[in-house]
Amino acid sequence: MSARERSDSDTDALRREVEALGPWFHNLHLPGGVQTAPDHFLQADFPRFKWLQIERHVPRDLSGWRVLDVGCNAGFYSFELARRGAQVLAIDHDEHYLAQARWAAGQFGLADRIEFRQQGVYDLARSTESYDLVWFMGVFYHLRYPLLALDLLARRTRRLLMFQTLTLPGEEVHADTQDHPITEREPLLAPGWPKMAFVEHRFAGDPTNWWVANHAACEAMLRSAGLRVLARPAGEIYLCEPQAPDPVAREQLDAVLRALG
Ligand SMILES: C[S@@+](CC[C@H](N)C(=O)[O-])C[C@H]1O[C@@H](n2cnc3c(N)ncnc32)[C@H](O)[C@@H]1O
Repeated sequence: MSARERSDSDTDALRREVEALGPWFHNLHLPGGVQTAPDHFLQADFPRFKWLQIERHVPRDLSGWRVLDVGCNAGFYSFELARRGAQVLAIDHDEHYLAQARWAAGQFGLADRIEFRQQGVYDLARSTESYDLVWFMGVFYHLRYPLLALDLLARRTRRLLMFQTLTLPGEEVHADTQDHPITEREPLLAPGWPKMAFVEHRFAGDPTNWWVANHAACEAMLRSAGLRVLARPAGEIYLCEPQAPDPVAREQLDAVLRALG
């Protein structure tokens, strides 16, 4: 068999493995040029196009950084962060995606830098570990209890948190959200008042899409969870650093943690 024939048959074998592990949500570019989801329903080359928008906001050298990738899916972001030197804990509650991620880590030679664990975000309530960088992209709106997850993750963040969620149209931010008398409710209807649309049934055909926040709500929820927005690398994406959380939010998270034992 010629070298060319050998490489064609290797590529065919790789394609068969990719197909057997499908369907894929992340389009990974595997060694040899095979892609896992080249015809993505959301956007061409997802999520690489997003990574290209945000990567300059992430330190080039993550040596010595411990990263938590929440809802890692097939591991696209874990791989990029591990390539920058980070040690990554990548969690997802869906074993189908974790199988893809573990397999792809082997293909990329990154298996020793990433631990993949089948775990839900709320399971972090039972751990006290903290992380230099928490990657929380594409998960918040899938959660019925999104602020519980955000509060937990803010507490676990040592240096940076990258947040992305599905948002409502509009960039307005209402100037005065400090306090209003109970009889004065109109300001709550202002376009820039922090709001989340609740999805009782489905959105985009997905029954796990529960909440769609506006921009003002994203910023307000991040602040009250104890995160200061440092940059907005792209639409719906917020890079944050830890700050003191709202004291009432802190008490309420403590109460939940006590109740969970
Ligand atoms: C829209 S995908 C986003 C994947 C990746 N983070 C990204 O931004 O491309 C949502 C991922 O979060 C996972 N997920 C959803 N709810 C979760 C939960 N409660 N705990 C852990 N993972 C969750 C899903 O299995 C899926 O892999």
